[in-house]
Amino acid sequence: MCGIVAAITNGLDARASVLHGLKTLEYRGYDSAGMAVHTGDSKLAVRRKMGKIANLEAELASNALPESDQVIAHTRWATHGAPADRNAHPHTDDGGEIVVVHNGIIENYLDLRAELVADGHVFLSDTDTEVLANLIARHMRNGNGGIDLHTAVRTALTEVHGAYALVAMCATEPGTLVVARQDSPLIVGVGDAAHYAASDMPALLHLTRDFVALENGESAISHADKMQLCSASGDWIERETTLCDWTPEQAEKGGYPHFMLKEIEEQPDVLARTAFDRFHDTEGDVVFEDTFTLTDADLRALRRIRFMAMGTSSHSAMIGRWLLAEFAELPGETLNASEFLYSPILPENDTLTVIVSQSGETADSLRAMRELQKRGGRILGICNVQGSTLAREADDLILTHCGPEVGVASTKAFFGQVTALYLLAIRVGRARGVLSTERGLELLHDLRALRPKLDSLFAPEAMAAVRQAAAFLATVPSCLFLGRGLQHPIALEGALKLKEISYIHAEGYPAGEMKHGPIALIDEHFPVVVLATPDRTYEKMISNIEEVRARSGKVIAVGVAGDQQVQNAADYFLPVPEVPPYLAPLVNVIPLQQLSYEVALALGRDIDQPRNLAKSVTVE
Ligand code: G6P
Repeated sequence: MCGIVAAITNGLDARASVLHGLKTLEYRGYDSAGMAVHTGDSKLAVRRKMGKIANLEAELASNALPESDQVIAHTRWATHGAPADRNAHPHTDDGGEIVVVHNGIIENYLDLRAELVADGHVFLSDTDTEVLANLIARHMRNGNGGIDLHTAVRTALTEVHGAYALVAMCATEPGTLVVARQDSPLIVGVGDAAHYAASDMPALLHLTRDFVALENGESAISHADKMQLCSASGDWIERETTLCDWTPEQAEKGGYPHFMLKEIEEQPDVLARTAFDRFHDTEGDVVFEDTFTLTDADLRALRRIRFMAMGTSSHSAMIGRWLLAEFAELPGETLNASEFLYSPILPENDTLTVIVSQSGETADSLRAMRELQKRGGRILGICNVQGSTLAREADDLILTHCGPEVGVASTKAFFGQVTALYLLAIRVGRARGVLSTERGLELLHDLRALRPKLDSLFAPEAMAAVRQAAAFLATVPSCLFLGRGLQHPIALEGALKLKEISYIHAEGYPAGEMKHGPIALIDEHFPVVVLATPDRTYEKMISNIEEVRARSGKVIAVGVAGDQQVQNAADYFLPVPEVPPYLAPLVNVIPLQQLSYEVALALGRDIDQPRNLAKSVTVE
């Protein structure tokens, strides 16, 4: 949802490193891209191009920006104003004195724009960001030379309603970048005689691993050799940097054609990194880091657990609800975070809310968190990004250790979330005394034994089966994914993956619902993907397969390798290793990720950056 990168150095040309960082943020939006530099002679220069960063690069090759040690850049996911060169960031004020990159939405921009037009300002774009640039410029001019850029930015922001992360530069104030944030992410990177800013850490890993995250309402003045952080109320504050344990290589493709493929194949390691170091192998329990402060007494006092998330994370949240009921006897519900805000308000007594989010920056999930905290509710965050807003603001935190996820279609983050939810279920079950030491030990053993079993999913035979099914699926306009019980969220996730990256219409349904509507769609052109691994839903799933076939529907079935009954009934069979039923989601999701990848590949889609989507949705 728009990516920002900026750098200020001590005389070193920063154009290439900012462009490199911008490319790692392209998953945040790719409607247009742009860069601005301070030319050192009280001038600014800007280049902007509609479309992907490659278009901007081509523009820069033919119409280069001057070398500069003060550079800001942006990749856009369009909100206000269609994708077009003139709506691309950076935006300047009409005097060309201030230049701004911005991620977020200024809700009152039309009112502000009308005021500025009445004042004689001229607008060239349809964006809310151009309003910001002119507003800042107006305050600087009104200051009779007495207002600096930081003061002008802070004053302008008092008039603004909405969300923003921004970086501003001023032609007449060389050697200074001003950054500010409210409800959109922004981090400052601290380098050697250099400071950087970006929407998230992967953009800066090639430059530094020392970061300061800005809190809501905060702003900062960055010079090459120092950064002054300013609180929402205008006081200068000190904050230690935090060291990020991600490596620059983790944010690169590493020889893979797509991030998505790399990230699918990283999942066995995600299991190890997220789970194994947290096992308490004598107690049959789990030990979380000290960001998890819920005591046994707290967990025993719970009467209900609520899960909230968006997108893929809401599918892992559904599995979490099931696991907590199964292993901790704690009833609960899963809510779409954006819907929660419009639900009836009930007392929060004895309820824990778990917010699941890869990025920790999804606007709907953060808004739900803050609303609940206002009502006195306690929030446990499950998140992949250390230092993100969710990670900082949740009352308790479990980090998934997936490493940076770059592909827009989430894969390994889902896997890490479900793994963390298994651990949570074990911890809560043990704390509440409903899970014995022996059963806890069995569950830990099962998780450990899962890792080598996952290898067969990447074997040539398994991949060949996926490719065969994909060649067929790539020819249909629409399809259905069915699963029951714990496999229902996997059916939803399989359908979401397919539609996200192949643009084939796909719906996930609880298999029992098929007869209540979707069955009307089935014919020889409308296939059904069925999850049919052994558990208490198995017989019913076999019946569903037969019902589809009786209507000439083609069946792609995920089943345990060697299961003749499923294999014979299906047109395409995707074999998986046999695991205890409760672990099947972690296994069954992988061939569905591979299937959507192969379908998208066959159709020549833009796999890592599917149209209209953004990885981190920071607007509601
Ligand atoms: C976007 C992404 C999805 C992701 C969802 C929630 O829609 O494209 O992949 O599942 O946001 O993001 P979060 O970071 O909160 O998990």
